[in-house]
Amino acid sequence: MKKLHRIAQALVLTSCASAALAQAQTATQAVTPTPVHPELWPAAKSPSDFIDPKVEARITKLLKAMSLREKVGQMIQADTAAIKPEDLRDYPLGSILAGGNSPPLGAPDRSPAKPWVDTVRAFEKVAMEKRAGHTAIPLIVGIDAVHGNSNVVGATLFPHNSGLGAMHDPELMREIGRVTAAETAASGIHWAFGPTLAVPQDDRWGRAYEGYSENPAIVAAYAGPMVEGLQGKPGSKTTVQQGRVAASVKHFLGDGGTTDGIDQGDTQVDEKTLIAIHDAGYPAAVDAGTMTVMASFSSWNGVKMHGNKALLTDVLKGRMGFDGFVVGDWNGHGQIPGCTNTDCPATFNAGLDMAMAPDSWKGLFDSTLAAAQDGRIPMSRIDDAVRRILRVKFKLGLFDKARPFENKPQEMGSSEHRAIARQAVRESLVLLKNEGVLPLKTSATVMVAGEAADDIGRQSGGWTLSWQGDGNTNADFPGATSIYAGIADALKAGGGKAVLSPDGSFTTKPDVAVVVFGEEPYAELRGDVRTLEFQPGDKKALALLKKLKAAGIPTVSVFLSGRPLWVNPELNQSDAFVAAWFPGSEGEGVADVLVGGKTDFTGKLSFSWPITAAQFRLNKGDKDYDPLFPLGYGLTYAKGGHVAALGEEPGIDASMSNSSVFIADGIVAKPFNLETAPGVKQRLVDSADRQEGAIRFDWSGAGSANILGPNLKLEREANADMNVEVTYRLDKAASGPVTLSLGSGKVRIDKVLAQPGQWSKLRISLKCFANHGTYMGGIARPFSLEASAPFAISVSDMKLATDPAGAVCPE
Ligand code: BGC
Ligand code: BGC
Repeated sequence: MKKLHRIAQALVLTSCASAALAQAQTATQAVTPTPVHPELWPAAKSPSDFIDPKVEARITKLLKAMSLREKVGQMIQADTAAIKPEDLRDYPLGSILAGGNSPPLGAPDRSPAKPWVDTVRAFEKVAMEKRAGHTAIPLIVGIDAVHGNSNVVGATLFPHNSGLGAMHDPELMREIGRVTAAETAASGIHWAFGPTLAVPQDDRWGRAYEGYSENPAIVAAYAGPMVEGLQGKPGSKTTVQQGRVAASVKHFLGDGGTTDGIDQGDTQVDEKTLIAIHDAGYPAAVDAGTMTVMASFSSWNGVKMHGNKALLTDVLKGRMGFDGFVVGDWNGHGQIPGCTNTDCPATFNAGLDMAMAPDSWKGLFDSTLAAAQDGRIPMSRIDDAVRRILRVKFKLGLFDKARPFENKPQEMGSSEHRAIARQAVRESLVLLKNEGVLPLKTSATVMVAGEAADDIGRQSGGWTLSWQGDGNTNADFPGATSIYAGIADALKAGGGKAVLSPDGSFTTKPDVAVVVFGEEPYAELRGDVRTLEFQPGDKKALALLKKLKAAGIPTVSVFLSGRPLWVNPELNQSDAFVAAWFPGSEGEGVADVLVGGKTDFTGKLSFSWPITAAQFRLNKGDKDYDPLFPLGYGLTYAKGGHVAALGEEPGIDASMSNSSVFIADGIVAKPFNLETAPGVKQRLVDSADRQEGAIRFDWSGAGSANILGPNLKLEREANADMNVEVTYRLDKAASGPVTLSLGSGKVRIDKVLAQPGQWSKLRISLKCFANHGTYMGGIARPFSLEASAPFAISVSDMKLATDPAGAVCPE
């Protein structure tokens, strides 16, 4: 009976699929750019010492000495994972970056400062070689030091920006910038890809946590101090020799305003709104002397920012008087219509000075050189770009060989630095509810429960040692403390004790339980959600809270998340509830406020908290603003406040949230469904690890099995090299071609399937589908598996995956 039900559920048909298909296949049409009126924008100016006549004269001399190849090289940045130092002899590039998953040379991705210092030196050595016909120009090397020098083992990790917004403390931001710079410079790196000045308007956006606030005023107040913290104040020494690094305010412009909170999407607002909300932080950042600005992947009213001349050139460099350079985002130029990752004069003509071409640098170099030679990029534009880049290199002291900070490993995670991070943790905590259970008595016996109780990776979030922040263990964080460890320490001092019990089991009943749970780490793409419901599927944390309540144990929830989420059921089961964001490496900061009561809460929400899971775009100033907790909310011990029982209807269909899992354990995951042609039979069979955990498809003749569902947009996923992963067993080898289509792109798979009878994984990269004709901007009919002759296959799982191992691209 159950079996029948599952198949019937899978068979629901979607009638409008073919109409939607036709619509999705109309490729991107040229969009008329929204007119820009630079005079409407706030004026700003790079500081007066930004342009030093003596330095400019040296740049003029260098420009005369440099060949066109060398000039073009300055404008291109490659990734450590895709270039070797010796490549710089043939391709004299100006910059190197280390992407989130890109290791230093010859060392693991998770490495301490030393291998990074060695890596930078190895590249620098080739760049600075004395060779005939070579103008030696130092490299500028960048990394995502976005919450501390967060890609390097041993660094002090600060709360992510959504937490920092809750502090309302611009002066502490300056200190955070200073510490981040010192630890970045101590790793040999010259440039932090931050701060993010996004003003996230839709909390479904997976990068919402990279923004300080939904409120432009908070972003504006933080931008200047953070830039000055990283770089030093204008007029002071802003060099790597002083432990400073270049900032890169990002992503210019409108990254936080995309429709439906889709990463790299389209921000559809008028010019006035773009200025008032999304530009809020940039004038202050330019005034503070930011040396670089990173262009956004996103579009404004249909025009990709990497190609928007009016905004990059007329507004940013013109009206806002920005004299540093504009860097692109990860192959962001390749998304401009008419461009590819390896060919894009349009982006330079629009005002980009340096393209981030991680793996595409060689092709982009060749095509850009050709475009420079035949005048498609005017020489004046090239000279302007190179001048800006060299100016920054001079400002940073890169022409000076001395690198004293590289000999200061003691800068990494020093106790002085950690104390600042710990203060930031204290100040960022927001008390949402407290029915008298907090502060914890120092003499109490406290159970510390929840999956994330003793997990520094979980409390640090994305952009931590790895791109998405996954795969980390406590051993990867020398010198850091988990939330459990911090609580244990604080209680020891007062005669109480902490008992770690992630699953909430106990032999002796504790006085109270602190339950640490929340979102798992995520970064771009993976962090995008479709509703704000926390744990729409399993409600694991809720079950744990209920279990503790049932045992008569008062509960304190410490919620780790990048953004406000709908947690009404969890709030109801908590006697106290603390929004702790992603606090980073200093778990002790949580205990400082929770235990003893000497330190009160001061954090106030910098994002509005939703009352239903459907309040995606909930921002102060909305016409019908009706949050659960408004912007600026936060209880204290001194004042308190009562939170009544909350409604538990999420206000949304939970299945809406899924966009990357199509089949899981033989069940077609909602909101998708399966349709098979009459010639194709299906039934449930056992998978490798589960009874009836797979669907077996049998072809007796020609036909297809289709997965239908909502329109999918997979541009970002394709750009990030994600793939379609199918877990399958071949049951009967094909007697003719078998194809798998994603939208209109079709690949032949019969030759790449494993031998019959064994469970295997097939991975086909999204880029492969794109090369076969899939239009990633709108896929109305997700998948179609077709055969024309007898064939049988069982499928247990089908999803989008990031692990590229063994991915194939058949003909
Ligand atoms: C992100 C940037 C980041 C860059 C380098 C991009 O995908 O959008 O914020 O700085 O990668 O890792
Ligand atoms: C890199 C990130 C980058 C992302 C862009 C990843 O592979 O490690 O640094 O931001 O790709 O999609």
